[in-house]
Amino acid sequence: MGAASLDPTERFLRACRGEPVDRPPVWLMRQAGRYLPEYRAVREGVSFLEMCRDVDRTVEVSLQPLELVGTEAVILFSDIFVPVPGMGVELDFAPGPVIEAPIRTLLQAEALCVPDPRESVPYVFESLRRLRAELATRDIPLLGFAGAPFTLAAYLVEGSGSNDFNALKRMMFRTPQVLKVLLARLTEMVCAYLQAQIEAGAQAVQLFDTWAGLLSPRDYQEWVLPTHRQIAAKLDHSRAPLILYVKDSSHVLDFMVESGVDVISVDWRVEMAEAARKAGQKVSVQGNLDPCALQAAPEEIAARVREISEAARAARGHILNLGHGCLPDTPVEGVRAFTAAAKALAP
Ligand code: CP3
Repeated sequence: MGAASLDPTERFLRACRGEPVDRPPVWLMRQAGRYLPEYRAVREGVSFLEMCRDVDRTVEVSLQPLELVGTEAVILFSDIFVPVPGMGVELDFAPGPVIEAPIRTLLQAEALCVPDPRESVPYVFESLRRLRAELATRDIPLLGFAGAPFTLAAYLVEGSGSNDFNALKRMMFRTPQVLKVLLARLTEMVCAYLQAQIEAGAQAVQLFDTWAGLLSPRDYQEWVLPTHRQIAAKLDHSRAPLILYVKDSSHVLDFMVESGVDVISVDWRVEMAEAARKAGQKVSVQGNLDPCALQAAPEEIAARVREISEAARAARGHILNLGHGCLPDTPVEGVRAFTAAAKALAP
């Protein structure tokens, strides 16, 4: 079959595996979100967690970006913290996650349970099954995701978001045995969670290790890389390719390439040409427009899209995306210009 007649699912999966495609597929992290008035309408009057547990609303907002902004993949609307209360951790969103009792001791880490996600968060899998059925006739790929152990641990130890997550770094150096137990429990949870998402119909899964780039290369190699390797080794990649996102990752690209994932996803601070060169024939690349660049005029956005896709050619495959999530103040027109520019790329 020629690459000229690819449907969006084929194009996406081929790009993940480094097989020939006509042009890169396009989607955006946080493509369903507050920048869309239609999202805000569905979100009105319910808390974020209520919304994640409501299958009808979840399905509706997950699908919104397809028609409204023309993306070529659907990511389940949820959050990396959705499976965490099932481990015995109370949390809320305000708007980011706030942990009632931050984890600081061995006793707390050892008390974390790893439930069967199909029992602790059944609505996640119900939403995925519904979405997969909705998308089947349109040949649009469905993506699942999980927070990576290190990034989940960063919030669980700190108690909330932070610029430097110093509480976690303190734990790394003062009581490494606590962090070891915490990461082991989270790794076990993430493996079970992603596996169950694949069984419920996710055709690719993304691991969000947003904050792992805060570590030195040496500490990343010791604390983060083994968790990625364990997760990559547990999943059936022939059923669903694995994408790894790390923000601010210039200094750890080699480790990302060697982690066993199929695609590395990088932010705008990384030179795409460098990431693509390192990726080579080993992995594909995803990214990496600065979300703020969607404020630019459509022709400027199109020029950036052409630059990025050109720079990504050294890699075996490229998925066009932002370098981080779409921001609440993003103009809808900017998102449309981004997907339109991707679809206009020459083979
Ligand atoms: O990409 C998608 O569209 C899927 C949905 C998704 C959300 N969060 C929805 C969300 C995904 C994949 C995430 C991942 C996530 N959540 C990460 C990793 C990726 C990243 O962005 O760095 C992290 C660190 C979180 C934790 C989190 N959740 C924060 C820090 C916040 C507050 C910041 C913000 O954007 O509001 C959230 C809340 C959240 N997660 C919202 C959404 C749409 C906003 C909720 C609302 O509508 O009020």
